[in-house]
Amino acid sequence: MIMANNEKLITQLEESRILNKEDFVHLIAHHTEEEAQFLFARARTVRERVFGKSVYLRGLIEISNFCANDCYYCGIRRSNATADRYRLSEEEILTCCEEGYRLGFRTFVMQGGEDAYFTDDILTHLIRNIKARFPDCAITLSLGERTKERYQKYFDAGADRYLLRHETANAQHYSQLHPAWMSHARRIQCLWDLKEIGYQVGTGFMVGTPYQTAELLAEDMLFIKELQPQMVGIGPFVPHHATPFANESGGTAELTLFMLGLLRLMMPELLLPSTTALGTIDKTGREKGLLAGANVVMPNLSPVSVRKKYDLYDNKICTGDESAQCVNCLEIRIAATGYRVELGRGDAPGWKR
Ligand code: 5AD
Ligand code: FES
Repeated sequence: MIMANNEKLITQLEESRILNKEDFVHLIAHHTEEEAQFLFARARTVRERVFGKSVYLRGLIEISNFCANDCYYCGIRRSNATADRYRLSEEEILTCCEEGYRLGFRTFVMQGGEDAYFTDDILTHLIRNIKARFPDCAITLSLGERTKERYQKYFDAGADRYLLRHETANAQHYSQLHPAWMSHARRIQCLWDLKEIGYQVGTGFMVGTPYQTAELLAEDMLFIKELQPQMVGIGPFVPHHATPFANESGGTAELTLFMLGLLRLMMPELLLPSTTALGTIDKTGREKGLLAGANVVMPNLSPVSVRKKYDLYDNKICTGDESAQCVNCLEIRIAATGYRVELGRGDAPGWKR
């Protein structure tokens, strides 16, 4: 009987694109493998209606692992004295873009810790330079919290998109994952600022962080519905040995996949990456993510010499490979799912700028 009820809730989510909190909690906390498969089949139908068989690629360039923040889960937190710090020069970043461009990428994601070295002048110079050399490419930034004025400068210089995971929609839970001086309200404000400026915005959260409950995941769903981002990045929490959460257990692929399916039904046009963290805890996690509703992959374009240093969690995959190897590997993996790589900017549906 529970099964029929859950299938009804999944159908209701597909039709009305929302559930109340109680129903989300019920689905997240109590579902069978069969019900998950039912959800994934609906999610694939919905994603194929919007995106066909296309999977968008983004080239990820990890520009710095210096970070002023101290998130309890993250391996590059500032209190981790064992982290081997690096930052890329503008020239090194441009070399990554060149290689990425040759491999067919038309989106570059520059991600890094909150590193004060990257001043507004350095960043806007870099953004203008990339746009001048690769005018048909989109630039995505993922560099943490800034003031609205600063986000505006990067946008004016040519940045198209910004990724900033909210991490958890619940302020109390946020305070259990971060030191007291990190503010949940400020993080949420950043997301609204980015939207107001006109960025295509990505947010997201980890699945299976310490203290997370089905109720908190339901709050994440409702927050995302309210924010209406263009992208949502979710992956399992994976413990890092040199953090306060070293001995906590990680998130499961099963629940991560289920959340991906729910997101696809709630917001059919979302860009949903099948993340490296998911591929780390399950050898075929990224393929399973695509089959649960995800439609984006973000292969690493960082120089091989720094890949091991961008060490957010233990056992991260793809840290020994050349960019071209990752692209080949992913093309094969994507083809095996019945989907195919689509080269191009891969903007959110209907987006113009
Ligand atoms: N496990 C999984 N994901 C992590 N992130 C940071 N640390 C971890 C970890 N230990 C995620 C955060 C951040 C993104 C860049 O990486 O959600 O926003
Ligand atoms: Fe990097 Fe497979 S994607 S080796």
